[in-house]
Amino acid sequence: MSILLYSSVDDMDVWRGHFRDALPGKTIYLPGEFENAEEIEYAAMWEPPSGMLSSLPNLKVVFSLGAGVDHLFRDGSFPRHIPVVRVIDPSLTEQMCEYVLLHAMYHHRRMWEYKVFQNKSEWNLLETKRIGDVRVGVMGLGVLGTAVARVLRDFGFSVAGWSSSRKEEDGISCFAGADEWDAFLERTEILVCLLPLTDATRGILSSAVFKKLARCGDTMRGPVLINPGRGGHMVEGDVLAALESGVLGGASLDVFGEEPLDAKSGFWGRDDVLVTPHSAAATDPVFVATSIRDNLARLERGEEVGPLAHFDRGY
Ligand code: NAP
Ligand code: GLV
Repeated sequence: MSILLYSSVDDMDVWRGHFRDALPGKTIYLPGEFENAEEIEYAAMWEPPSGMLSSLPNLKVVFSLGAGVDHLFRDGSFPRHIPVVRVIDPSLTEQMCEYVLLHAMYHHRRMWEYKVFQNKSEWNLLETKRIGDVRVGVMGLGVLGTAVARVLRDFGFSVAGWSSSRKEEDGISCFAGADEWDAFLERTEILVCLLPLTDATRGILSSAVFKKLARCGDTMRGPVLINPGRGGHMVEGDVLAALESGVLGGASLDVFGEEPLDAKSGFWGRDDVLVTPHSAAATDPVFVATSIRDNLARLERGEEVGPLAHFDRGY
């Protein structure tokens, strides 16, 4: 029984060290190291090249190295009958909460505008409203979105969330489905995207949506987009056009259609955009190694693996 480890971005030798610590006696291969594909029963993957997984005839489980699984399901040859275990790690959730709270506060307290003044040595005071009057809307009330919405609520923001199925959360206005999409947008000044990237959500952050957001009066330049979801959620040209025309008053963007973000991208040079390099919430290799160990033990006991993503719904 062997495990194939692959990541397009992480140092695989470092990850393999953690896997070896948690999985003594198991063989951990990196691509190109094994001769017989039949040996591989488990795969731990981030953005595998198309065809890598379908070339493993005895594959039993795929472990995603991240919370999202779009990097697996985008492969047209993905073996859809194979269970996919995703990451639900309290430390990743905590990082995401930090990221969104930080950026919501950054825009609410008009930090990028003060930075522009600072660059010109100008001492200017800007208006802000009370935090309880700032309406944040979280797209996706899953593991991360729900935790983020609660932190924002507890910090004092007026919070709503939107998801496929109806949720109930104390002090959070929960909207669901296509029928309530417009109502959710119309009450939202700071829009946070924590959806998974699926056929249904690709390109959801578009001009039409930005135009529906609530205006913020004299506080903040206009509605704000915070996107730590996936780059594919944004029509990037629409985001730039909305910033340029004032339909959006600022943005914090962690993810992009092409990563790393091209040096020529219009996002880099803008005062009203904070670009981060897909760093909102990183997966802890020790957590994944331990999750694999625990799941292998479950399989030995004849139990199901998890937490599972579902190919048919795309997340
Ligand atoms: P999750 O638990 O699967 O939650 C997804 C949420 O989105 C659920 O509430 C789901 O609704 C909702 N949803 C899915 N499709 C929808 C649609 N078409 N319309 C409305 N709502 C929809 O996912 P998660 O663990 O919170 O992670 C969310 C995403 O965060 C990941 O997929 C990944 O892209 C991103 N992420 C980014 C970073 C980073 O560092 N930037 C780190 C980790 C994750 P239901 O509850 O009704 O199913
Ligand atoms: C990171 O983007 C993840 O999906 O965990």
